[in-house]
Amino acid sequence: MPLPLIPLPHLVEPGGDPFRLLAGARLAGVPEVVAALLRERTGLSLDGCGAGLLEFRLAAGGAPESYRLEVDATGVRVVAADEAGLFYAGCTLEQLLAEDPEGWILPAVVIEDAPRFGYRGAMLDVARHFFDVTTVKRFIDQLARLKLNVLHLHLTDDHGWRIEIASRPHLTARGSGSEAGGGAGGYFTQADYVEIVGYAAGRCVTIVPEIDLPGHTHAIGLAYPDLAEQPVLDAYLRAQIEALDGVLPVAGEPFTGLGVGFSSLRIGHEPSYDFVADVLGELAGITPGPYLHIGGDECLGTPPAAFADFLRRVTAMVERLGKTPIAWHEAGAAPGLAPGTVGQYWGFLSPDELAAGCAQRLVAAGSRLVLSPSDAAYLDMRHPEDPSGQDWANGPTSLRRSYCWEPSELIPGVGETDILGIEAPLWTEFVRTPAQVDALVFPRLAAIAEIAWSAPAGAPGRNWSEFRQRVAGLAASWRAQGIGFTAVREVEWP
Ligand code: ACM
Repeated sequence: MPLPLIPLPHLVEPGGDPFRLLAGARLAGVPEVVAALLRERTGLSLDGCGAGLLEFRLAAGGAPESYRLEVDATGVRVVAADEAGLFYAGCTLEQLLAEDPEGWILPAVVIEDAPRFGYRGAMLDVARHFFDVTTVKRFIDQLARLKLNVLHLHLTDDHGWRIEIASRPHLTARGSGSEAGGGAGGYFTQADYVEIVGYAAGRCVTIVPEIDLPGHTHAIGLAYPDLAEQPVLDAYLRAQIEALDGVLPVAGEPFTGLGVGFSSLRIGHEPSYDFVADVLGELAGITPGPYLHIGGDECLGTPPAAFADFLRRVTAMVERLGKTPIAWHEAGAAPGLAPGTVGQYWGFLSPDELAAGCAQRLVAAGSRLVLSPSDAAYLDMRHPEDPSGQDWANGPTSLRRSYCWEPSELIPGVGETDILGIEAPLWTEFVRTPAQVDALVFPRLAAIAEIAWSAPAGAPGRNWSEFRQRVAGLAASWRAQGIGFTAVREVEWP
């Protein structure tokens, strides 16, 4: 059996006798967050009163986030390039822990490791259904342990506005009390958000907040009716909504349905830009990370020229705030975006002309892309063995389909250096509980994490048949963490 490591490290050389981890082992230079992981998993005090040494230290010169880990019968030695490297070495150690009748062992091994892509993300949609700070922190723990380093929070949508904006208090007072399918909703105060950002930073995770504009903005109209267009209900949108659930949006009333694309901010209206400046300005002030995501998807209710004008102005605004804008790939239809705007591709593994064209135009204008092919990386698509959930992205998404794709071959003309990274979004139209989050996210997030971190397919061990075995090897750790993963049939779970 291969060692149960996901994502697969760059180099793994198994060695001789294992290290037996005992209660008295001494931790030297081990970050507290790693010590907590090891203590939590083993139940051992690791108080330095007995035998064995786990020694972590920094050394200049390595690639960002890289580390070297050596385990032999005497102990563990880690050398890392930075704090992230130390943390990831600890995550690797936790995956290596194995239990035998006498306690805990770490197999002897030398690992050298560094990520392929710098942006490795997951997204949680807290707008369709709201998830509280505790649930978000748990999600951060889960993704960080797979060496993902971005949590994209989809904070606003037609169904609700989920972040306090002090200068625009009606957003949360009037725009946060609903959810898809109905429900109480909720929102993060700025203090909650700051707490999430800090918790994430402690696990080397950057928060990317998204304010979805200029579409997906029905909730803004509940708060500030003057800023929102009437819902666009042309024949196409009526037919789309009829086919979904028949719930039509009504201006000024909370939206609980499944339709998309009908809402728009009033684009030719200067107060809309004052509003966006207030929202993005406050958000930038509490977001230490480099990115602000401004949405830009599915603006079917916004005329194309107005859409382009809006994106041009708003990406420039984000740049003036000292942040890098990210927008969904539809932004590729808009000329004149702020240079450096990142595009997020959410088309299929076999891109249609429209999606590929948008992505290619972004790259031609100098943008890099985050890849979230919806039929591989959208975690809300149902598993083949589970009848509940979404399947619009090319039917259900198997673990194998999540795993077997190559980023640099996804979109013609978009190569390795055009790709900033990979992200797996979890949309929550049908997701209400942490248990539902677990069941959709696991095991497929492991596949996406490996694509984002590990060498391309073909490197030793980087293939589907070995991945299936390594995933099975993580089941014990996931169970210990209380993760209710879906036991997909493609894997022989222990
Ligand atoms: C999207 O799925 N509308 C980005």
